[in-house]
Amino acid sequence: MFKWASKLLKEKTETDILSPDQSIRCHFTLNKNGIFYSIYKNNQLVIKPSLLGFKICGEKPLYKNLGLIRTQKKSHSQTVEMLWGEDRYLENKYQETAFFLAEKTEPHRIFTIRFRIFNDSVAFRYEIPPQLKFRQISIKDELTEFNLSPNTVTWSIPAYQPDRYEYNYEKGRVFDISGSVHTPLTMRTPNGVYLSIHEAALYNYGSITIKQNQNGILKTDITPLSDRTIAHVSLPFNTPWRLIMLANSAIELTKNRTMYVLNKAPNQDFSWVKTIKFIGIWWAMYVGEWTWAPGERHGATTAHAKSYIDAAVRLGISGLLIEGWNDGWEGDWLENGVNNKFTVSTPDFDFDEVSHYAKIKNIELVGHHETVGFVDNYEKQLEEAYNYYAAHGVHYIKTGYAGSKMLIHGRKEYHHSQVGVNHYQKTVEFAAKKHICLNIHEPIKGTGIERTWPNLLTREGARGQEYEGGALAPSHACFLPYTRLLSGGMDYTSGIFDIKNPVKRINTTLARQIAYYITIYSGMQMAADRPFIYENRYPDVFEFIKNVPTNFEKTIPLAGEIGEYYIVARKDRNSKDWYLGGVTNEINRKVKIKLNEFLPIGNYEAIIYADTNTSHYRDNPLAINLINKKVTKDDVLDLYLAPGGGFAIQLKRL
Ligand code: NOJ
Ligand code: CA
Repeated sequence: MFKWASKLLKEKTETDILSPDQSIRCHFTLNKNGIFYSIYKNNQLVIKPSLLGFKICGEKPLYKNLGLIRTQKKSHSQTVEMLWGEDRYLENKYQETAFFLAEKTEPHRIFTIRFRIFNDSVAFRYEIPPQLKFRQISIKDELTEFNLSPNTVTWSIPAYQPDRYEYNYEKGRVFDISGSVHTPLTMRTPNGVYLSIHEAALYNYGSITIKQNQNGILKTDITPLSDRTIAHVSLPFNTPWRLIMLANSAIELTKNRTMYVLNKAPNQDFSWVKTIKFIGIWWAMYVGEWTWAPGERHGATTAHAKSYIDAAVRLGISGLLIEGWNDGWEGDWLENGVNNKFTVSTPDFDFDEVSHYAKIKNIELVGHHETVGFVDNYEKQLEEAYNYYAAHGVHYIKTGYAGSKMLIHGRKEYHHSQVGVNHYQKTVEFAAKKHICLNIHEPIKGTGIERTWPNLLTREGARGQEYEGGALAPSHACFLPYTRLLSGGMDYTSGIFDIKNPVKRINTTLARQIAYYITIYSGMQMAADRPFIYENRYPDVFEFIKNVPTNFEKTIPLAGEIGEYYIVARKDRNSKDWYLGGVTNEINRKVKIKLNEFLPIGNYEAIIYADTNTSHYRDNPLAINLINKKVTKDDVLDLYLAPGGGFAIQLKRL
């Protein structure tokens, strides 16, 4: 913007942008105090006028003294097809307005705020083009606010903590938020509107967390770099989308898929990507039978791997994860991981033999890279390590970043910082080149990039079953669908049947363990217990895990409340079968499922795995009822969920 033109700028503007169905209204204001947006749903004010803008290092803050150059409007309506996931087809329908803004005085910086208003969401991002005097900027702070009533109920986990994203959800109010909290930050306004603040398409920028400002207003707190800036970027640069999902009920919120459609379509062929179920040389380590480190009880030996491959064949599961096969697990692996080697096996593990055996038995190996957050060490070996797996016919890798921070460029950095975000992206792109799919543990949260990079099949990134044995309450899995799972799939490491194991006692019933395959979606689903438990003790319950798909045509959330319960139906992508799952917190409940809410005309065989009247996660977790009956869409199923329980149903089309 040139000085002579600044007089032509509009100094004030007020604009409404309506969603296609007109239920959501976003109001944009430009005045001498800055730029603001507010949001109404069903004519009720949800977000009061909230500031937008930036602080850029070495410059004046960029939010005041602005003028409008022009606006640009557009309507968009398209159906998006996903390669895999909870729903095959997603609606991408919105009204867009972009506001092109310029500073009225020196240094005459220009930028754009682009809003997209969907029928269930508001999204906006900042777009910073090359400036007259500079092509690179360091962003000190993003000023985006979310001005909600202080009485708004929140369900949150804390940010910047040693266990990264792996915390229990706390219910509170906006005025209770003391430190920063992660997104998706799910809330309910005093008027009963449900919303969740998150982000989409996070690239080359710190991830969003939310804090309460001194004035009580929620504001973005972008994860900083160790130099206390939030990002160093070259221009042009677009921030991730700021996403506000809106709904009339908690269950409606779980239908929101806007995050994915804000990401781009893939720009290469990903038809080689396949979702998968896998067992693992894994839980035996958690219950103390085997160890990650070499020694007498080493888990990842050639003999164990071959016997697990045989077990996978018998169980009808197509993948096997092997943890602890490489150099780096001796002693305190969390402390010693700085020199981990990703191409050197322990002496008792012959990778050539194991991979050859897997190949002839038609089992996919899931490789494992535990970096312990030593990213510099990992990146040095990336090429070699991925080539090594590719040469052994491995198409899946689970990566891990245990530790409170990562070592990147010699500095301790947050996982969710700009350099962390860039590292994870590098692995996803690198894996794509080698036709490898990823399951990232200790990841950054999902922002829908799996639409563009479908080889990123899942993330652990939340408190999962490794925290059982004391640190997982039955309510946890009833919070996830309304919070964490709004950011995409999760490897919850489901299917632990050895519930009463004294080393790792599980706080659920048996039926609940198979319900997870429906209530917690993951493009890679683990059957996490040891194979002999499945085969010797519960072969009939395991049938559900064997049959349940990992790729769905359609998902229909049926009922639930945050932290209390969640019931969902999903249709298999490759057959006419439907699957249902339900979980409850510590409180037992009866539910009625009207099959006509989702089931088409036709005859189905219902195979129901349910808690008994006496099931209880504490005293009687293993009691389970298996019921088989014929149903049509006119039937209503009466189900009982025990305390800490759940149910799973397969509806087989006859
Ligand atoms: C923590 C991960 O969450 C778990 O899945 C993994 O087995 C261990 N780290 C070791 O890598
Ligand atoms: Ca973990």
